[in-house]
Amino acid sequence: MNILAIETSCDDTCIALIKCSDKTNPKFEVLKNVISSQIEIHRKWGGVYPTLAKREHQKNLPLILKKILKNLDIDKIDAIAVTIGPGLEPCLWVGLNFAKKLSEKWKKPLIPVNHIEGHIAANFIGGNSKFKITNYKNLFPAMCLIVSGGHTQLILMTNYGKYKILGETRDDAAGECFDKTARILGLGYPGGPAIAAKAAKFQIQNYKSQINPKSKIQNPTTTHLQWTRSPSPYSRTVAQSAIHLPRPMIHQKNYDFSFSGLKTAVLYDYKKRSSKEKKSKKYIQEMSFEIQQTIIDVLISKTLKAAKDYKAKTIILGGGVIANTELKKQFKEKMKKEIPNSKLYIPASKLCTDNAVMIGITGYFLWLNNKSKNWKNIKVNANLRV
Ligand code: KG4
Ligand code: ZN
Repeated sequence: MNILAIETSCDDTCIALIKCSDKTNPKFEVLKNVISSQIEIHRKWGGVYPTLAKREHQKNLPLILKKILKNLDIDKIDAIAVTIGPGLEPCLWVGLNFAKKLSEKWKKPLIPVNHIEGHIAANFIGGNSKFKITNYKNLFPAMCLIVSGGHTQLILMTNYGKYKILGETRDDAAGECFDKTARILGLGYPGGPAIAAKAAKFQIQNYKSQINPKSKIQNPTTTHLQWTRSPSPYSRTVAQSAIHLPRPMIHQKNYDFSFSGLKTAVLYDYKKRSSKEKKSKKYIQEMSFEIQQTIIDVLISKTLKAAKDYKAKTIILGGGVIANTELKKQFKEKMKKEIPNSKLYIPASKLCTDNAVMIGITGYFLWLNNKSKNWKNIKVNANLRV
């Protein structure tokens, strides 16, 4: 069957057409996939501005649908999947109302999809559009870490559609922390990729000065090479920062997170710097490295603890923050060392951030469990939980 999937929970307007087959061992093929990013529009606000996002979704959806339907017979579409939450309420309504109209007009069933479940399902298709997970029996129990601009959740998955939230952020999400600290440092929106780029520069500089201590790059005002504190437990990278941020809740027994204190610590450090230092490449790169490493340390530590406690066979990652290369690298290294018998699943980079492919895949699993509904009975829920 073919599923038309629609996603408008935040600032990306996304429609995809997915070919789904096989009931016992589902297979997927992405026939079409269009994402219209609103980054340029929200950049000047330093974050997503819901009213503008809603207006853009209204404008973009018909244009994207036209592209998707080009040379396509409507009869080839069997069902419509749409995100109903969690997300920004006005944005969710635009997507749902659009899907409802299509459902009514084309007489196709509508499948309401949870966005977080979508981020998990993004693992079930590879970058080459081939289904990645072939043996369901070996997948569960799975420990899922979903980290995006709006969420940071540790979810125990015991079967398809069976979830238990073990822990989540008590304040800011990890992606939100990237975005807010990037704003403090004047790096713009979205903060995650901007911080990652600056952190990578710090690592290169640091590596060069390690292999050639006389190199001009080494700067005596910092103590990178003096190892003033123990290296991050979750990094084999050579870089070490002289700035030390707190790792919030890392040693607590629960599975919750907290990132707002981290943002405050960055702000305090920034405020006490001279105006020359605030603008210096060295400070910005070093602080970016430390922010990224702090978030990585907390995410990996808490996830591995939960995976060990629940004897998880797999760790499943998802959400925009998972696009972070250093996070992926350190997750692999740490898992190999601490829980070598568990498998790690990471979505293809383009499926980490919001997209409609993941909504279509989730839609198929829901369809197999008879979870489609009449369009009249579907509502959005901005705080929907798995
Ligand atoms: O899942 P997503 O696309 O949208 C939400 O559902 O929120 O996630 C967006 C978040 C933003 O906070 C963005 O800064 C972060 O993901 N992000 C990253 C990277 N790429 C996107 N964070 C760290 N490193 C990245 N490479
Ligand atoms: Zn998302």
